[in-house]
Amino acid sequence: MPQGMAIEARRIAPRQIAHVSLNTEGAPLAMARRPLTIAATRGKRWGEGAMDARTSNYLEIYRRSLADPEGFWGEAATAIDWYEPAKKVFDPAAGVYGHWFTGATCNTCFNAIDRHVLRGRGEQAAIIHDSPVTGTCATITYGELHREVKTLAAILRDLGVRKGDRVIIYMPMVPEALFAMYACARLGAIHSVVFGGFAAKELATRIDDAKPTVILAASCGVEGARIVAYKPLLDEAIRLARTKPQACVILQRKQAEAAMAGGRDHDWASLRAQAIAAGKSADCVPVLATDPLYILYTSGTTGIPKGVVRDNGGHMVALVWSMHNHYGVRPGEVYWAASDVGWVVGHSYIVYAPLLHGATTILYEGKPVGTPDAGAFWRVIAQHKCVAMFTAPTAFRAIKKEDPQAKLLAQYDMAHFRTLFLAGERADPDTVKWAERHLKVPVIDHWWQTETGWAIVGNPVGLGPLPVKHGSPTLPMPGYDVRIVDEANKELGANTMGSIVIKLPLPPSCLPTLWQQDERFRDGYLAEFPGFFKTADAGYKDDDGYVYIMGRTDDIINVAGHRLSTGGMEEVLASHPDVAECAVVGMNDALKGEAPCGFIVLKSGVTKPAAEIEKEIVALVREKIGPVAAFKLAVTVARLPKTRSGKILRGTMKKIADNEPWTMPATIDDPAILAEIGAALKARGICT
Ligand code: COA
Ligand code: AMP
Repeated sequence: MPQGMAIEARRIAPRQIAHVSLNTEGAPLAMARRPLTIAATRGKRWGEGAMDARTSNYLEIYRRSLADPEGFWGEAATAIDWYEPAKKVFDPAAGVYGHWFTGATCNTCFNAIDRHVLRGRGEQAAIIHDSPVTGTCATITYGELHREVKTLAAILRDLGVRKGDRVIIYMPMVPEALFAMYACARLGAIHSVVFGGFAAKELATRIDDAKPTVILAASCGVEGARIVAYKPLLDEAIRLARTKPQACVILQRKQAEAAMAGGRDHDWASLRAQAIAAGKSADCVPVLATDPLYILYTSGTTGIPKGVVRDNGGHMVALVWSMHNHYGVRPGEVYWAASDVGWVVGHSYIVYAPLLHGATTILYEGKPVGTPDAGAFWRVIAQHKCVAMFTAPTAFRAIKKEDPQAKLLAQYDMAHFRTLFLAGERADPDTVKWAERHLKVPVIDHWWQTETGWAIVGNPVGLGPLPVKHGSPTLPMPGYDVRIVDEANKELGANTMGSIVIKLPLPPSCLPTLWQQDERFRDGYLAEFPGFFKTADAGYKDDDGYVYIMGRTDDIINVAGHRLSTGGMEEVLASHPDVAECAVVGMNDALKGEAPCGFIVLKSGVTKPAAEIEKEIVALVREKIGPVAAFKLAVTVARLPKTRSGKILRGTMKKIADNEPWTMPATIDDPAILAEIGAALKARGICT
C-alpha cells in the first residue's frame, strides 16, 4: 500500500455518530431487519390494491423517522465513515431552515471509493461504461477508479483548485465525467455539471453564477448517429461569460478532436500522463458535512436557472439509506440508472449512491431505441447481470412504440433483474402496465426533484414492497412529511387536489439553499406556505395516503423527463426582432410526455412570411437553450388571449392544444381570440 494511503487510512479512523451495530453489508441492522423480499416476488402479478402494513416494514420506519428524526438519521449515518462525528444530528438554528450533521467532517470521495478499496473491493467493478454509440464497453474497478481520481485531483490541485472552489464539468457519458466529479469531491471543491444538450448561452449563465476556477470538458458527445462538438460551445460560452476560468482541461475524443486555445486549454491525456510519470496523487480533504458537494442548476420560474446546492454529509446518508431500503440493492450488485450525469438522477444514482453503497454502476452512453434497436436496455441488463434499473417513463414509451410486443426481450436472459424504477415525469399507467406485463418484475414509480436529490414519495422494496397503485408513486419516504394544502396553507382531505408541500425541516440530502441566494431560496420555496417547502407540484392523496402527482403549479414543463422553463423559452422567442408578443405552453406528447408549443404575434409592418419567422424561432431556441428544449413548433397568431388585467391565458391555450374540454374564463378580454387559437392549431394538425 502506498504510504499516502496508509497515512490516510489511519487518519480517517471512522467515528460513528450514533452507536449501532452494522450488518456485514454496512447497513444499520435497525433498517435491515427484514430480509430483502424482492426475489420472492419475482413473477408475481403486480397491480392495484390497498396498502398492507404486514408485508413491509415501511410504516414502522416511516413513523419513527417523523417522531424521532435525529435518532433515525443519526442511526442511518453509521453507514458513513466520518473524520469527526456531528456535534448535532440536526441543528435547527443553522442555515436557512436548519442543517443536518453540523460539526461533522467527512469526504464523499473517501466514502465512495477509498474505503471500499481499503476494505477489499479494489478488484470489484465500480463502473461499467457501456457505449453502443462508440462500440465500446469498459469495466473500471474500484482500484482503478481510485488511481484515476487521485491523479486527476492532483492535476486540478496543480491548476489552482482548492477546497470551496467551483469546477464546471461539461461532458458526455464517459467515465472521465465521473473521475472529474469525484476528483472535485476529493479536494473539497464544488462541482457543477452542465448537461451536454444545453447551448453556449445556458453554459455561460452557469459559468457566471458559479464562477469556476477550472472547466473540465470533452471535445464531443455522441448522440446516436450525430457527433455533437462540445468544444466550440464551450469556447462560445467562455466568450459570452463575464467570468473567465483560469484553465480548461479538454478530453479529446477521437470522434471529433477539438482545437485548443493556447494558454487556457490543457490536454487531459497529456496532463494525466505527466502526473502519473511524476507520481502525483492527491489525498482526500476533510470537509464539513454541511459544505457543498455540488451545485446543480435547474430550471426556475424565470429564465435564470437556480443553483441547487447539495451538501456532503446529509447527501451521503440519505443516498446510502435509499440504495438498500428503497432500491433493495446490495453492495457488490450491479445497478443501472439510465439517465445522464448532467441531471440529478445521474448525480445521485449513476455517480454517487451506487458507489457509496459499494455496488457497481452502469454508465450507458446510448439511447433506449436506435442504438441499435429497442432491445438495447434488455441487452445491457442481461450482459451486465443488472439487478435493478432506473429510468424515465419516456424511455419505456420509446421502446413500447418500436417494439409493442417486446419481441426483442426473448433474446436476453433477464434472470438477475429484480426491479424497474421509474421517475422524472408522471409514469402513465399504460406504460407501467406494459413494463410489468413484459418484464414480470415490480415496476416502481417514485417522485422526486433536483431539489431533494432522492425520492420524496416512493415504494421501498428493500423494506418489503408496498402494493402498487398505477398512477401513484406510493407513499412518502422517511423524513418527508408530505401534505396537500390549499392556497391558504390549509390541509386538504383525501382525494382533493391541492399544492404538494413538505413540512420543514426537509430530510438529509435536500437542498439547504440556492447557491449564494438564500433570499431567492426563501422567496421561491418557503415563503408561500409558512413552515413548509413548496414543491411546485400539484396532486392529491387517496384514502390510503397514496400520493398522486398531477402536474406543476409553475411554468415548468417536463419534456422527455427533462425539466424546462417555458418562461426561459418565451425570453428567447421575445428576443426575435419580428416578434411583438409570445407565449409557450407544454402540449401533451405521446412519446415525450410534453412538448413545447410557442405562439407568436408578429410586430405590425413585418413583411417576412410567417413560416420563415417560425423556422427562425425554432432555430433560435436550439441555439440559445439547446437541442434538449425539443422546441419544434412555433405558431403565428393574430392575438394572444388575455384576462382583462393583461395575463396571458396559457392554461386555456394548453387545453385547446390538448383537445381537452375548457371553459371560457370569466375574466377574458375578448372571447373570440380563443377560437382564433383553436383555428391556428387546427391548421397545423395539432387539434381537431
Ligand atoms: N448532448 C447533446 N445533445 C443532446 C444530449 C446531450 N447530452 N441529450 C439529448 N440531446 C439532444 C438530442 O440529440 C435531441 O436532438 P435532436 O433535436 O437533434 O433530435 C434533443 O436533444 C432532444 O433530446 P431528447 O428529448 O432526449 O430526445 P431524443 O430524440 O434524443 O430521445 C428518448 C428520445 C425518449 C429516447 C429520450 O428522450 C430518452 O431516452 N430520454 C430518457 C430520459 C432521461 O434520461 N431523463 C433524465 C431524467 S431521469
Ligand atoms: P427534476 O428536478 O428535473 O428531477 O424534475 C422534477 C419534476 O419532475 C417534479 O417536480 C415533477 O414535476 C416531475 N416528476 C419527477 N418524478 C415524477 C413522478 N414520479 N411522477 C410525476 N412527476 C414527476
